[in-house]
Amino acid sequence: MFDVKKVRNDFAMIRNHPDLIYFDNGATSFKPDCVLESLMHYYTHCNSNIHRGDYDISFEASNMYEATREAVKNFLNARKAEEIVFTAGDTASLNTIAYGYAEKYLKEGDAILSSEVEHASDILPWYVIAEKTKAKIVFAPVKEDGRFDLQAYEECLRNNRVRFVALTYVSNVLGYIYPVKEICALAHRYGAVVCIDGAQAVPHLPIDVQDLDMDFLTFSSHKMCGPEGVGVLYGKKELLDKMDPLFQGGGANARFDAKQNVILKETPYKFEAGTPNVSSVIALKDAIGYLQGIGMEELAAYEYELASYFLKRLEECDNVIVYNPHTDTGIVSFNIKGVFSQDAATYFNSKNIAVRTGNHCAKMLVDIIGVGDTIRASFYFYNTKEEIDRFIDVIKETTLEKCIEVVL
Ligand code: ALA
Repeated sequence: MFDVKKVRNDFAMIRNHPDLIYFDNGATSFKPDCVLESLMHYYTHCNSNIHRGDYDISFEASNMYEATREAVKNFLNARKAEEIVFTAGDTASLNTIAYGYAEKYLKEGDAILSSEVEHASDILPWYVIAEKTKAKIVFAPVKEDGRFDLQAYEECLRNNRVRFVALTYVSNVLGYIYPVKEICALAHRYGAVVCIDGAQAVPHLPIDVQDLDMDFLTFSSHKMCGPEGVGVLYGKKELLDKMDPLFQGGGANARFDAKQNVILKETPYKFEAGTPNVSSVIALKDAIGYLQGIGMEELAAYEYELASYFLKRLEECDNVIVYNPHTDTGIVSFNIKGVFSQDAATYFNSKNIAVRTGNHCAKMLVDIIGVGDTIRASFYFYNTKEEIDRFIDVIKETTLEKCIEVVL
């Protein structure tokens, strides 16, 4: 197991804020020094445009950019580096698939299968595509506690002409891991393509896209110790090849002429029009290397241990309601009885504790857990049991009166 104290020292945000308890890692993560140094190195040693310059610093930057593609391929165990497309973030990846694949191939009477656990970026693009193609959206009913129900899912596949399945890997509110391997196998049996939103999974779990046999996987760099402004779209090569790019422009075309003939570059370059976020893509490789140095198995086990410890200690707090007492990951959602979640967070903030509150963009989840707003603590590998102990002390003393005092 990695040394958490040592790991914490790798993060300037932790060194600069020794008293801050940051439990909002589901929203974004801190970045280790190696990632910050990588950004600085690019801007101070090889700042140039990629795949366009006939000079050394451009060759260097281009090679480093492509080295990240190779690193992501290895991290996901994809078959080929060409299956890795860089985008602006998880939302951009999902929209690229929506407009480039789903809009092109779905037609009236087809169904897109989703769930009410999804957050906005993994449902709103499919709403638009359903409207444009006249396909319908079908929600696979989840179990009472929000867990995925494979039997109900199969019934949906059997009873509808599902051609596209769009589901999350890990719920950003409940922390449950969806059974992605079974989801993909069943979807394929019924002739559907599967797109998995890995925003809350890829930073926290070992992932093998070949073993899981997913068709598309999307995620962001900034939640996994990498810089902001970069997302990954993994797609099976044969699917990416038949997809249209979302953007047209420089770098993505091989040739065009005045008669409007355009020949696009091959996958993945046809999807990367315009100058990409070169520095951040390069630094994503350092983030991946950092996570691999810790070990994804170890990291996942440690986060689960933190969440289990937190849940155990929450049992001492009779002012708390927990919505996912059996989380699979480092995500725990709860409320303080009789206190609006945002007021509680404002009180926590006065004690230097950062959590996210509200509906967490998963606005349909209210029908499942019965409340629209929760406090979410989301842990990462640099959090500690000591931080949880401090949080528990604050939770125990949280009352409506104290919250109002801070809010007013
Ligand atoms: N989807 C991100 C979250 O869950 C922003 O906080």
